Amino acid sequence: MSGKRVMTIQKIELKIGLGSPIRILQVSDAHLSGCCEEDSEKSKAKSRKKTAAFLEESGGVPQEQRLKEALELAEDCDALVFTGDIADSPSRANLELLESMLEGRKYLYTFGNHDYYSYDSDSGCAEDRERYLDDFLRFLPCDPTMDAMQIGGVNLVTLDDSLAQFSWLQLGFLKAEIEKGLPILLFLHLPIYSPTFVPKAYEWWDSSMCVGTPADVLAAHGETDPKMPADEATQAMLELIRTEPLIKAIFASHLHFTDEAEVLGKPQFVNEPCYLGSVREIVLR
Ligand SMILES: [Fe+2]
Ligand SMILES: [Fe+2]
Repeated sequence: MSGKRVMTIQKIELKIGLGSPIRILQVSDAHLSGCCEEDSEKSKAKSRKKTAAFLEESGGVPQEQRLKEALELAEDCDALVFTGDIADSPSRANLELLESMLEGRKYLYTFGNHDYYSYDSDSGCAEDRERYLDDFLRFLPCDPTMDAMQIGGVNLVTLDDSLAQFSWLQLGFLKAEIEKGLPILLFLHLPIYSPTFVPKAYEWWDSSMCVGTPADVLAAHGETDPKMPADEATQAMLELIRTEPLIKAIFASHLHFTDEAEVLGKPQFVNEPCYLGSVREIVLR
Protein backbone atom coordinates (compact mmCIF):
# COMPACT_ATOMS: atom_id res chain seq x y z
CA MET A 1 0.00 0.00 0.00
CA SER A 2 1.44 3.39 -0.95
CA GLY A 3 0.34 6.94 -0.21
CA LYS A 4 0.71 9.47 2.53
CA ARG A 5 0.24 7.70 5.84
CA VAL A 6 0.33 10.63 8.23
CA MET A 7 -2.39 13.25 8.48
CA THR A 8 -1.45 16.80 7.52
CA ILE A 9 -2.65 19.38 10.06
CA GLN A 10 -3.15 22.77 8.47
CA LYS A 11 -2.69 24.96 11.50
CA ILE A 12 -3.66 28.59 11.81
CA GLU A 13 -3.64 30.96 14.77
CA LEU A 14 -6.04 33.83 15.25
CA LYS A 15 -5.81 36.48 17.94
CA ILE A 16 -9.30 37.53 18.99
CA GLY A 17 -8.58 38.52 22.60
CA LEU A 18 -9.43 35.33 24.51
CA GLY A 19 -8.24 34.91 28.11
CA SER A 20 -7.06 31.34 27.48
CA PRO A 21 -6.38 29.79 24.09
CA ILE A 22 -8.77 27.23 22.59
CA ARG A 23 -8.17 24.71 19.83
CA ILE A 24 -10.75 23.70 17.25
CA LEU A 25 -10.44 20.89 14.70
CA GLN A 26 -12.21 21.40 11.37
CA VAL A 27 -12.81 18.26 9.32
CA SER A 28 -14.28 18.28 5.80
CA ASP A 29 -14.87 16.11 2.78
CA ALA A 30 -14.27 12.61 4.12
CA HIS A 31 -16.60 11.41 1.31
CA LEU A 32 -17.56 8.05 2.80
CA SER A 33 -18.86 6.09 -0.18
CA GLY A 34 -19.96 2.69 1.16
CA CYS A 35 -23.09 0.72 0.30
CA CYS A 36 -25.12 -2.26 1.58
CA GLU A 37 -26.23 -5.43 -0.18
CA GLU A 38 -29.82 -4.16 -0.07
CA ASP A 39 -29.00 -1.00 -2.08
CA SER A 40 -30.02 -0.85 -5.74
CA GLU A 41 -27.62 -2.21 -8.38
CA LYS A 42 -27.18 1.35 -9.65
CA SER A 43 -26.19 2.61 -6.17
CA LYS A 44 -23.85 -0.30 -5.58
CA ALA A 45 -22.13 0.21 -8.93
CA LYS A 46 -21.70 3.93 -8.23
CA SER A 47 -20.42 3.23 -4.72
CA ARG A 48 -17.80 0.79 -6.06
CA LYS A 49 -16.73 3.19 -8.79
CA LYS A 50 -16.42 6.18 -6.47
CA THR A 51 -14.68 4.22 -3.72
CA ALA A 52 -12.09 3.01 -6.27
CA ALA A 53 -11.56 6.60 -7.46
CA PHE A 54 -11.14 7.98 -3.92
CA LEU A 55 -8.71 5.17 -3.07
CA GLU A 56 -6.65 5.83 -6.14
CA GLU A 57 -6.48 9.53 -5.33
CA SER A 58 -5.53 8.90 -1.69
CA GLY A 59 -2.81 6.39 -2.55
CA GLY A 60 -4.81 3.48 -1.13
CA VAL A 61 -5.84 4.90 2.26
CA PRO A 62 -9.60 4.30 2.81
CA GLN A 63 -11.77 7.32 3.61
CA GLU A 64 -12.95 5.65 6.83
CA GLN A 65 -9.34 5.30 7.99
CA ARG A 66 -8.74 9.02 7.40
CA LEU A 67 -11.89 9.97 9.28
CA LYS A 68 -10.83 7.75 12.17
CA GLU A 69 -7.43 9.48 12.26
CA ALA A 70 -9.13 12.88 12.22
CA LEU A 71 -11.31 11.87 15.17
CA GLU A 72 -8.20 10.80 17.09
CA LEU A 73 -6.71 14.26 16.49
CA ALA A 74 -9.95 15.82 17.74
CA GLU A 75 -9.36 14.21 21.16
CA ASP A 76 -6.68 16.86 21.82
CA CYS A 77 -8.90 19.77 20.78
CA ASP A 78 -11.60 21.74 22.60
CA ALA A 79 -14.14 21.54 19.75
CA LEU A 80 -14.79 19.59 16.57
CA VAL A 81 -16.57 21.05 13.55
CA PHE A 82 -17.46 19.14 10.38
CA THR A 83 -17.90 21.36 7.34
CA GLY A 84 -19.61 19.08 4.90
CA ASP A 85 -19.31 16.15 2.49
CA ILE A 86 -18.44 13.78 5.32
CA ALA A 87 -20.67 11.33 3.44
CA ASP A 88 -20.42 11.09 -0.34
CA SER A 89 -24.05 9.96 -0.30
CA PRO A 90 -26.59 9.35 2.48
CA SER A 91 -26.60 5.55 2.07
CA ARG A 92 -27.61 3.45 5.05
CA ALA A 93 -24.04 2.07 5.17
CA ASN A 94 -22.53 5.57 5.37
CA LEU A 95 -25.01 6.89 7.93
CA GLU A 96 -24.62 3.84 10.18
CA LEU A 97 -20.85 4.09 9.96
CA LEU A 98 -20.98 7.80 10.80
CA GLU A 99 -23.35 7.20 13.69
CA SER A 100 -21.06 4.58 15.21
CA MET A 101 -17.89 6.62 14.66
CA LEU A 102 -19.38 9.79 16.16
CA GLU A 103 -21.31 8.23 19.02
CA GLY A 104 -20.81 10.01 22.35
CA ARG A 105 -18.98 12.96 20.81
CA LYS A 106 -19.93 16.61 20.91
CA TYR A 107 -19.52 18.43 17.61
CA LEU A 108 -21.07 20.71 15.03
CA TYR A 109 -21.89 19.30 11.59
CA THR A 110 -22.98 21.32 8.62
CA PHE A 111 -24.25 19.76 5.39
CA GLY A 112 -22.12 19.58 2.29
CA ASN A 113 -23.74 19.06 -1.09
CA HIS A 114 -22.70 15.39 -1.05
CA ASP A 115 -24.17 14.56 2.36
CA TYR A 116 -27.62 14.37 0.73
CA TYR A 117 -26.54 13.37 -2.80
CA SER A 118 -28.43 10.23 -3.80
CA TYR A 119 -26.58 7.71 -6.00
CA ASP A 120 -29.95 6.29 -6.99
CA SER A 121 -31.40 9.46 -8.46
CA ASP A 122 -28.07 11.16 -9.24
CA SER A 123 -29.34 14.28 -7.55
CA GLY A 124 -28.58 16.48 -4.58
CA CYS A 125 -31.16 19.23 -4.79
CA ALA A 126 -33.11 21.13 -2.10
CA GLU A 127 -35.75 18.38 -2.02
CA ASP A 128 -33.06 15.75 -1.40
CA ARG A 129 -31.68 17.84 1.46
CA GLU A 130 -35.15 18.01 2.98
CA ARG A 131 -35.74 14.29 2.39
CA TYR A 132 -32.54 13.16 4.13
CA LEU A 133 -32.53 15.70 6.97
CA ASP A 134 -34.37 13.40 9.40
CA ASP A 135 -31.91 10.56 8.72
CA PHE A 136 -29.12 12.83 9.98
CA LEU A 137 -31.11 14.37 12.84
CA ARG A 138 -31.73 10.84 14.14
CA PHE A 139 -28.11 10.67 15.36
CA LEU A 140 -26.49 14.11 15.05
CA PRO A 141 -26.36 16.17 18.28
CA CYS A 142 -26.83 19.32 16.19
CA ASP A 143 -28.82 20.73 13.27
CA PRO A 144 -26.88 20.43 9.98
CA THR A 145 -28.74 23.37 8.45
CA MET A 146 -27.69 25.90 11.13
CA ASP A 147 -26.38 25.62 14.65
CA ALA A 148 -23.96 27.16 17.14
CA MET A 149 -21.75 26.20 20.06
CA GLN A 150 -20.25 28.56 22.61
CA ILE A 151 -16.90 27.52 23.97
CA GLY A 152 -14.24 29.42 25.92
CA GLY A 153 -15.73 32.83 25.11
CA VAL A 154 -16.19 32.28 21.38
CA ASN A 155 -19.28 31.38 19.37
CA LEU A 156 -18.83 28.75 16.64
CA VAL A 157 -21.65 29.07 14.10
CA THR A 158 -22.41 26.65 11.27
CA LEU A 159 -24.62 27.62 8.31
CA ASP A 160 -25.51 25.23 5.51
CA ASP A 161 -24.74 26.97 2.21
CA SER A 162 -24.36 23.74 0.25
CA LEU A 163 -26.83 24.90 -2.42
CA ALA A 164 -24.86 28.15 -2.88
CA GLN A 165 -27.49 30.21 -1.02
CA PHE A 166 -28.40 31.25 2.50
CA SER A 167 -32.00 31.51 3.69
CA TRP A 168 -33.94 34.20 5.59
CA LEU A 169 -34.22 31.70 8.44
CA GLN A 170 -30.42 31.42 8.61
CA LEU A 171 -30.13 35.22 8.51
CA GLY A 172 -32.41 35.50 11.54
CA PHE A 173 -30.46 32.75 13.26
CA LEU A 174 -27.11 34.50 12.72
CA LYS A 175 -28.56 37.80 13.96
CA ALA A 176 -29.71 36.03 17.16
CA GLU A 177 -26.24 34.55 17.60
CA ILE A 178 -24.68 38.00 17.14
CA GLU A 179 -26.95 39.26 19.94
CA LYS A 180 -25.06 36.97 22.34
CA GLY A 181 -22.14 39.39 22.00
CA LEU A 182 -19.32 36.86 21.63
CA PRO A 183 -16.74 36.80 18.83
CA ILE A 184 -18.00 34.47 16.07
CA LEU A 185 -16.26 32.02 13.77
CA LEU A 186 -18.41 31.04 10.79
CA PHE A 187 -18.22 27.50 9.43
CA LEU A 188 -19.61 26.83 5.93
CA HIS A 189 -19.30 24.19 3.22
CA LEU A 190 -19.05 26.42 0.16
CA PRO A 191 -16.58 29.26 0.58
CA ILE A 192 -17.59 32.82 -0.09
CA TYR A 193 -16.45 34.21 -3.45
CA SER A 194 -12.81 35.15 -3.77
CA PRO A 195 -10.90 35.75 -7.02
CA THR A 196 -7.99 33.85 -5.45
CA PHE A 197 -9.57 30.42 -6.02
CA VAL A 198 -12.26 30.87 -8.67
CA PRO A 199 -9.98 30.38 -11.73
CA LYS A 200 -8.74 27.08 -10.28
CA ALA A 201 -12.30 26.12 -9.27
CA TYR A 202 -13.45 26.52 -12.88
CA GLU A 203 -10.41 24.61 -14.10
CA TRP A 204 -11.05 21.70 -11.70
CA TRP A 205 -14.83 21.66 -11.39
CA ASP A 206 -16.26 23.81 -14.18
CA SER A 207 -18.02 25.89 -11.50
CA SER A 208 -17.16 28.83 -9.26
CA MET A 209 -17.90 26.49 -6.32
CA CYS A 210 -18.80 29.35 -3.98
CA VAL A 211 -21.46 31.70 -2.67
CA GLY A 212 -21.83 35.22 -4.01
CA THR A 213 -20.00 34.87 -7.32
CA PRO A 214 -20.47 38.18 -9.17
CA ALA A 215 -22.72 38.06 -12.22
CA ASP A 216 -19.91 39.13 -14.57
CA VAL A 217 -17.70 36.25 -13.36
CA LEU A 218 -20.55 33.76 -13.86
CA ALA A 219 -21.21 35.20 -17.33
CA ALA A 220 -17.52 35.17 -18.29
CA HIS A 221 -17.41 31.43 -17.58
CA GLY A 222 -20.74 30.72 -19.25
CA GLU A 223 -22.09 29.36 -15.98
CA THR A 224 -25.73 28.42 -16.48
CA ASP A 225 -26.50 26.82 -13.08
CA PRO A 226 -29.61 28.77 -12.01
CA LYS A 227 -28.82 28.44 -8.29
CA MET A 228 -25.49 30.28 -8.51
CA PRO A 229 -26.48 33.98 -8.59
CA ALA A 230 -27.00 35.11 -4.98
CA ASP A 231 -30.67 35.57 -4.17
CA GLU A 232 -31.97 38.34 -1.87
CA ALA A 233 -31.55 36.43 1.38
CA THR A 234 -28.01 35.45 0.39
CA GLN A 235 -27.12 39.03 -0.47
CA ALA A 236 -28.49 40.17 2.90
CA MET A 237 -26.42 37.49 4.65
CA LEU A 238 -23.23 38.50 2.82
CA GLU A 239 -23.87 42.12 3.83
CA LEU A 240 -24.37 41.10 7.47
CA ILE A 241 -21.11 39.12 7.43
CA ARG A 242 -19.33 42.08 5.83
CA THR A 243 -20.57 44.65 8.34
CA GLU A 244 -20.65 42.67 11.61
CA PRO A 245 -17.44 43.19 13.60
CA LEU A 246 -18.10 40.21 15.89
CA ILE A 247 -17.62 37.85 12.92
CA LYS A 248 -13.88 37.23 13.02
CA ALA A 249 -13.20 34.58 10.36
CA ILE A 250 -14.80 32.13 7.93
CA PHE A 251 -13.87 28.46 7.53
CA ALA A 252 -15.07 26.49 4.52
CA SER A 253 -14.23 23.49 2.34
CA HIS A 254 -15.86 22.02 -0.85
CA LEU A 255 -13.07 23.04 -3.27
CA HIS A 256 -10.86 20.06 -2.34
CA PHE A 257 -7.90 22.41 -2.41
CA THR A 258 -6.77 24.97 0.10
CA ASP A 259 -7.17 28.72 -0.15
CA GLU A 260 -6.65 31.68 2.16
CA ALA A 261 -7.97 35.10 1.31
CA GLU A 262 -9.76 38.10 2.73
CA VAL A 263 -13.47 38.02 1.78
CA LEU A 264 -16.04 40.59 2.89
CA GLY A 265 -13.25 42.08 5.01
CA LYS A 266 -12.72 38.83 6.98
CA PRO A 267 -10.06 36.15 6.68
CA GLN A 268 -11.41 33.00 4.97
CA PHE A 269 -9.66 29.64 5.13
CA VAL A 270 -10.62 26.74 2.85
CA ASN A 271 -9.80 23.19 3.93
CA GLU A 272 -8.25 20.37 1.97
CA PRO A 273 -10.28 17.13 2.11
CA CYS A 274 -10.01 14.63 4.93
CA TYR A 275 -9.97 11.72 2.45
CA LEU A 276 -6.63 13.06 1.22
CA GLY A 277 -5.33 13.11 4.79
CA SER A 278 -5.82 16.74 5.77
CA VAL A 279 -7.57 18.57 8.62
CA ARG A 280 -7.40 22.11 9.97
CA GLU A 281 -6.49 23.06 13.51
CA ILE A 282 -7.57 26.54 14.55
CA VAL A 283 -5.84 28.00 17.58
CA LEU A 284 -7.68 31.00 19.01
CA ARG A 285 -5.97 33.35 21.43
FE1 LIG B 1 -16.33 17.42 -1.28
FE1 LIG C 1 -18.88 19.76 -1.63
